[in-house]
Amino acid sequence: MKKIRMAVIGLKTFGKNAHVKAIVANENAELVAVCDIVEEIAKKVADEYGVDYYLDYKELLKREDLDAITIATPDQVHREIAVAAMEAGKDVLCEKPLALSVADCKAIIEASKTYGRKLMVGQICRLAPSFILAKELIDRGEIGEIFFIESEYAHDYAKKVGPNWRFDPTSPRHPVTGGACHAMDLMRWIAGDPIEAFAYGNKKMLAACPTDDCVIAVMKFPNDVIGKMFTSIGCKRRYTMRTCIYGSKGTIIVDNTSADLSLFKSEVAGSEMFAPSIEHQALEIKIPVRAVKHNIHDEMRDFINCILNDTDPLTDGIEGAKTVAACCAIVESTETGEKAKPDYSFAD
Ligand SMILES: NC(=O)c1ccc[n+]([C@@H]2O[C@H](COP(=O)([O-])OP(=O)(O)OC[C@H]3O[C@@H](n4cnc5c(N)ncnc54)[C@H](O)[C@@H]3O)[C@@H](O)[C@H]2O)c1
Repeated sequence: MKKIRMAVIGLKTFGKNAHVKAIVANENAELVAVCDIVEEIAKKVADEYGVDYYLDYKELLKREDLDAITIATPDQVHREIAVAAMEAGKDVLCEKPLALSVADCKAIIEASKTYGRKLMVGQICRLAPSFILAKELIDRGEIGEIFFIESEYAHDYAKKVGPNWRFDPTSPRHPVTGGACHAMDLMRWIAGDPIEAFAYGNKKMLAACPTDDCVIAVMKFPNDVIGKMFTSIGCKRRYTMRTCIYGSKGTIIVDNTSADLSLFKSEVAGSEMFAPSIEHQALEIKIPVRAVKHNIHDEMRDFINCILNDTDPLTDGIEGAKTVAACCAIVESTETGEKAKPDYSFAD
């Protein structure tokens, strides 16, 4: 079978540790080149895998033996590289967030339509075994009708503070759009596209952050579902995307780092055998799950398979852009003090 010839752009952390490894591990793909603006980084990875390296992605894109690229550069340059790659006839797997603004997302979606290229966004929560199980349980009615969903992006960026793209005051990467797009994507996957948001933000943890470093947002989802999202990039906790989904028949509490999911049910076969005092409380069923916070191998497999089989990727440009649009509405609300509606006009 034909192998998809691929290159990774942006290598320092996620590109080298996740994208490169996932491509090399995939039997239907071949890593042919890597690219980074820092020569030391690019050369080291190229030497390790015995492939060519480039310092300028435009030079890389001239290669005719290249089918697809993955983007693991700072969020601020996703648009520029994604558009150029599709114009050059390459399929694209772009790290989350697709971009930092709806306008940039629109340009990327437009390029994928114009040049007829595959575009996948690395919204990796949809590939975490725990979240997949939660979605399956919800879809088969285990918790009944959802009335409330909450998720969070709780992270501590204290060690990342410095003169880098995450804290660039000239081109701010808001933590809601840049980081909590994970939690937002998860909520959208389960509850649909938020209709309206209201949010408060503050900055009490990371003085160097050009924006708020903590935001609490409440949202209206379709079917009268209420949502809440907590974003913090300075909190003193372990990285987590703990998510609670409340339904008429049960509740799910799940995250991306634990080895089990909690399903609370009021009606469980055999519950009549428990003492009467317990009967009125929901029973907790702990279901074991594989704890994989970055299931990059399945993400890469999905992208490669969609090229090989000419199918749609799990999270296409529209999905990635809707997540960005919902995050941007939250940021807008923190700035105006008013409710804000996400701009989904690109999906019309
Ligand atoms: N899916 C996830 O859970 C996850 C986790 C971490 C990071 N990310 C995303 O991955 C991307 C990279 O994050 P990171 O932590 O690896 O960042 P990083 O700063 O560690 O690495 C980025 C690399 O891109 C290079 N670069 C910058 N501009 C470039 C350009 N124009 N052309 C080529 N290379 C360029 C830099 O030199 C650097 O080596 C971001 O979009 C981030 O949001 C996703």
